[in-house]
Amino acid sequence: MTAPYEFLATRRSIPAAFLGEPGPDAAALERLLRVATRVPDHGKEAPWRFIIIEGDARRAAGEALAARRAERAPPPHPQELDAERERFTRAPTVIVLVSRLVPSEWATEWEEILSTGAVAMNLLNAAHALGFAANWLTDWPAYDDWARTMFGLVEGERIAGFIHVGTPRVPPRERWRPEIATLVTRWAPPVG
Ligand SMILES: Cc1cc2nc3c(=O)[nH]c(=O)nc-3n(C[C@H](O)[C@H](O)[C@H](O)COP(=O)(O)O)c2cc1C
Repeated sequence: MTAPYEFLATRRSIPAAFLGEPGPDAAALERLLRVATRVPDHGKEAPWRFIIIEGDARRAAGEALAARRAERAPPPHPQELDAERERFTRAPTVIVLVSRLVPSEWATEWEEILSTGAVAMNLLNAAHALGFAANWLTDWPAYDDWARTMFGLVEGERIAGFIHVGTPRVPPRERWRPEIATLVTRWAPPVG
């Protein structure tokens, strides 16, 4: 097995709660994003962008989301609001991956969204390749209009994920994976 194959075959997310310091510094973040954007992009329109949440901004974003959560149904338990305040402080760096629909002569909306998924996966791989670990999370803030506006999204933009990045504080544990044979069929032309 080649080293790159072995790397891809064994990569695992690490839960955000186990992503410690240090996170990527400015140079490492630039390297992460450079690889993240090296994805197939049919229209060459870059239908994605990033919002970085670091340092004190993590707590401020959590406070804002806690206030919003308090207004949403069902009424939250007090512990839930505490968890909201700490939502982004679990990891040193949170990268909000934004999918943006760009009018394109070539790419369909579906293809632009798929390209954003590729960015997310490349970001996870790049983080691991630089010795960090990552966790792709969404949860209600990704789908809440108020939260979208709070993060500065505009019409046609959606949150594809909050990619938490940091240094793993626990070793990865393997999880269930599907049997490849259950996912594969072979097409054959109809008989007759
Ligand atoms: C789009 C997307 C959103 C996700 N959102 C969450 C989430 O909000 N909470 C969660 O516990 N896991 C979420 N996950 C799953 C985590 O990323 C999970 O840790 C991951 O599937 C582990 O697989 P891996 O070790 O192969 O990376 C999400 C996954 C995807 C693809």
